[in-house]
Amino acid sequence: MGRLDGRVALITGAAGGIGAATAHLFASEGATLCLVDRDQAGLDALAQKLNAPRTIVQTADVSASEDMHACVDAAINAFGGLDIAILNAGIEGELLPIGAYPEDDFDRVIAINLKGVWLGLRYAMPALETRGGGSIVITSSIAGVRGRAGMWGYVASKHGVVGLMRTAALEGAASGIRVNSVHPSPVETRMMRSLESKMNPDDPEGAYRAYRKRSPLGRYAEPEEVAKMMLFLASDDSSHCTGSTFMIDGGRGAG
Ligand SMILES: NC(=O)c1ccc[n+]([C@@H]2O[C@H](COP(=O)([O-])OP(=O)(O)OC[C@H]3O[C@@H](n4cnc5c(N)ncnc54)[C@H](O)[C@@H]3O)[C@@H](O)[C@H]2O)c1
Repeated sequence: MGRLDGRVALITGAAGGIGAATAHLFASEGATLCLVDRDQAGLDALAQKLNAPRTIVQTADVSASEDMHACVDAAINAFGGLDIAILNAGIEGELLPIGAYPEDDFDRVIAINLKGVWLGLRYAMPALETRGGGSIVITSSIAGVRGRAGMWGYVASKHGVVGLMRTAALEGAASGIRVNSVHPSPVETRMMRSLESKMNPDDPEGAYRAYRKRSPLGRYAEPEEVAKMMLFLASDDSSHCTGSTFMIDGGRGAG
């Protein structure tokens, strides 16, 4: 018996590293999936690999209200309701000092990473309420609890979603909706390859070594390790957890 048998889960950013690992784990635990991303080819490739009959894919921009509304409606129309939302889509933005940081990049990162999560909550919460409750997990970051020089848009957005998470947890509790956030330190995905190149364009491998050296466990997380945290929070194993920040940082926050 799977830990998500009979549950319908929507995952945003599903074509990316953490989203795809979460989709695989959720499918193996019996969930029915609505996979959302702006990368249609990535979604199609994932759906083929998953080979799970009760899966739909939705190409969408999470920062567009009508897109997020359509995704939640699609899950309800296809499967009769929604029980779990993993609000995970995100971008890293630029890594530049304040004088050089482009204003349009700041706006873009906030639109996707912060407003995109709010839109997900806006449409998913009423759907979960109709089912008598459910679980929402927001992918924040270690950058949601600590600063990072040069990551202006990213740090602001990842701190911002903690406020959304806490507000949603308070507003949703009476309807049986639990809301939590996960906070990974670097994970082995495309996003870190991009940040390593931005940190040291001449030697991204050196940046990779430097990031690893800062971690007490001496490595990045694997996306599958983050997916296991998602599963805990999405399933009834976390039935008394809501309104909380869950670190998955290899000890980085301890120092
Ligand atoms: N990789 C890390 O080190 C790390 C650490 C902490 C937190 N995170 C967070 O984890 C989440 C997943 O990141 P990842 O590491 O899997 O990176 P990724 O780049 O592999 O995946 C991100 C996915 O989000 C999608 N996406 C981006 N903008 C979108 C939009 N407007 N609408 C719909 N989809 C959109 C991308 O197409 C991509 O598939 C992000 O929120 C990220 O900030 C990542």
